[in-house]
Amino acid sequence: REELSIQYHGLFLPKETHSVNSLKFAQEFSFENDVIAVTYPKSGTVWMQEILPLILNDGDLTQIQTIPNWDRTPWLEETRLAVVVDQLKSPRALVTHFPYHFMPASFHQSKAKAIYVMRNPKDVIVSSYYFHQMAGFLEDPGTFDEFLDKFLDGNLVFGKWTDHVKSWKHNNLGDRIMFITYEEMKEDLPAALRRISSFLGKNLSDETIHTIAEHCSFNAMKDNPMSNFSLVPKIYMDSDKSPFFRKGKYFTSSFTFV
Ligand code: PPS
Repeated sequence: REELSIQYHGLFLPKETHSVNSLKFAQEFSFENDVIAVTYPKSGTVWMQEILPLILNDGDLTQIQTIPNWDRTPWLEETRLAVVVDQLKSPRALVTHFPYHFMPASFHQSKAKAIYVMRNPKDVIVSSYYFHQMAGFLEDPGTFDEFLDKFLDGNLVFGKWTDHVKSWKHNNLGDRIMFITYEEMKEDLPAALRRISSFLGKNLSDETIHTIAEHCSFNAMKDNPMSNFSLVPKIYMDSDKSPFFRKGKYFTSSFTFV
């Protein structure tokens, strides 16, 4: 585990995609009127990397068809951000797995908006278990029982699920944050897209919402080479062991914030 991770204020992060420099870059990142989707891993990150550029560009497909998701909607904490930051168009869309208190000072001082996406932890555990089997940059998950213990103890990259959700639930962002669940997006994607659009101040036609929903479906994304990680060498992500777009299903539809 020590070999594969770096430790950052008590949090373990994959060494393959995070570095001392990338974490410094994140802390010094200057937020403006950006939007950032926040997730505990395996809760809908890559889905938001498709949804946000489509909403912000009124359904224009150019970005999702020409730029890999990690450069199109980069992770705040990962090494790619510094490489592509100058190419991002305003309003920029980012994603992060950071707990709330890891967000840089500029985020709090800015007008940037956050969308917290939560997924039923039962599905997060299963998704994460298979992801740990296929991702060469993560530790072997062991048996499902062993992995379940690690998850419950918060002994995985990005820490404990409950700590993550709690940290973002108790925020000081007022109307700069919205909460949505993976299940809500799965249950009625057009309705979820309308809710996200209106939070971002975008009034999109039914036709545009329909186009976006089509391109953000599980099957469309699974077939999009810019989103399905087929560009990543097998030693890092081996889809023969388990595909990234594995099932895209939920345990229960009624998983909502109360
Ligand atoms: S990561 O590695 O943290 O960035 O993973 P993340 O993108 O958060 O989560 C991956 C899971 O999300 C599913 N997914 C989708 N489900 C439904 N519809 C769409 N469009 C979609 N896109 C991604 C993906 O299949 C993973 O879930 P599982 O349960 O493993 O299939």
